Amino acid sequence: MELWGLVLGALLVVIVGYLYVSRLSRQRKPQEPPLDKGPVPWLGHAIAFRKNMVEFLKHMQAKHGDVFTVQLGGQYFTFVMDPCSFGPIIKDTKRKLDFVEYAKELVLKVFGYAPLQGDYQMIHSASTKHLMGAGLEELNEAMLDSLSLLMLGLKGRSPDASCWCEDGLFHFCYNILFKAGYLTLFGYTEDKEQDLLQAEEIFVEFRKFDILFPRFVYSLLGPREWLEVGRLQRLFHEVLSVKHNQKKNGISNWISDMLQFLKEEEVAPAMQDKFNFMMLWASQGNTGPATFWVIFFLLKYPEAMQAVKEEASKVLGKTKLEVNQAFSCDLSVLKCTPVLDSVMEESLRLGASPTLLRVVKSDQSLKMANGQQYLLRNGDKVAIFPYLSVQMDPDIHPEPTVFKYDRFLNPDGTRKVDFYKEGKKIHYYNMPWGAGVSICPGRFFALSEMKLFILLLVSYFDLELVDPDTPVPPINPQRWGFGTTQPSHDVRFRYRLQPTE
Ligand code: HEM
Repeated sequence: MELWGLVLGALLVVIVGYLYVSRLSRQRKPQEPPLDKGPVPWLGHAIAFRKNMVEFLKHMQAKHGDVFTVQLGGQYFTFVMDPCSFGPIIKDTKRKLDFVEYAKELVLKVFGYAPLQGDYQMIHSASTKHLMGAGLEELNEAMLDSLSLLMLGLKGRSPDASCWCEDGLFHFCYNILFKAGYLTLFGYTEDKEQDLLQAEEIFVEFRKFDILFPRFVYSLLGPREWLEVGRLQRLFHEVLSVKHNQKKNGISNWISDMLQFLKEEEVAPAMQDKFNFMMLWASQGNTGPATFWVIFFLLKYPEAMQAVKEEASKVLGKTKLEVNQAFSCDLSVLKCTPVLDSVMEESLRLGASPTLLRVVKSDQSLKMANGQQYLLRNGDKVAIFPYLSVQMDPDIHPEPTVFKYDRFLNPDGTRKVDFYKEGKKIHYYNMPWGAGVSICPGRFFALSEMKLFILLLVSYFDLELVDPDTPVPPINPQRWGFGTTQPSHDVRFRYRLQPTE
């Protein structure tokens, strides 16, 4: 007993000593960015950062300026907050910053998937082929069918479809987009009724994982939550398994091409199941929440809703459904909606908050737009957080917290791409999809599916907030830095299919 006490005591001394020395050992070298190691050895600023990333970064920027290095859980992150200096990091022509290594660690932890060397190229080339251009047209058709199924039912419009229903808007958007996206990408069985039930079950479990996700990434889960995450991972590996896929029709070419590559590389079926889980997350974790923000702003700002409805009726024409009729739509209209495009960009500007991360592969210097040079250390991470540096910059976007549906429209109705900072035209003025090597390869499909859903909703349905005076819900601070944000609470709304008369 006494011996154990001694061993434990010695261990404690070693750990505390190590933490203390490691905190003291790193010193700022000449030309390096300001270094802020934080109040707690090893953890550094992790607690404040995880509590509210936006408030933390605002505080650091006020204290240190546009470039600073902070310690977070034993790792050093250099944040670059000046958007005019993003170019060298995003373009990285000398390939001295690495995106893949960091992503590898994360996907292994979160999805259990151990990526192969060629995965990055494979995902991007399958996405270029099937989530953009001609491949996208095929997927849009499939998405229209899925949305029809989910919004109208198996037999199209039912005779009693015009009564009002009430729901949480966040739940409504996420639920429909998730199920439609999942079925479109991962396919149907012979029994569509059963598929709908299964998609609902998967959505319920997906939300449980989604809620735990930010704290899981930061390793902040309690013991029960760890067990729950393990259960959810196993469940998704099972329901998305290659074994189940064999019973399905209409799996998208995007998914089947990627799985074919893994098979050819002799990746074990159990690992392919994990790959599917990762793709489910990448493809479904953002579109529902992003659509919530769009519809919420449309309901909150009648002028915006009016403009979108007018545009929708111009491109779609008559939108009354007869009994048993499903949605039909010429999908080329998705390319002719500048007003809705501006609404989408504006909603993403307000609601998307990804973090772009790169690992520094060797000591190197970073040249800022103002000519100042900083040394970056091998092994550190460089981080960009466009929500604060770009999307909320009042110089680039006057009154940045206000939703302006035509912010991304020129007076002649074309897409506005000219934005300025300190009088200079700026390249990165809105970055919901990330940028450079890690830019979202699904962005064109994401926009199409969200736009299709929104066009159908505003054209065929009546919708209104239960309380028209409801304020914009605050963003859940746990979600900062993780792609599309989510509201801290849901907002009640009601909807009905427009009556035929
Ligand atoms: C509103 C919707 C979406 C948003 C805002 C969004 C945003 C993003 C961002 C910011 C990244 C980069 C993350 C990083 O830098 O590490 C990303 C990655 C990715 N996204 Fe999206 N995304 C959306 C929808 C989609 C959809 C619908 C798909 C596929 C159908 C998709 C597929 C992917 C994939 C596969 C990656 C990882 C790419 C890689 O490993 O390089 N995303 N997304």
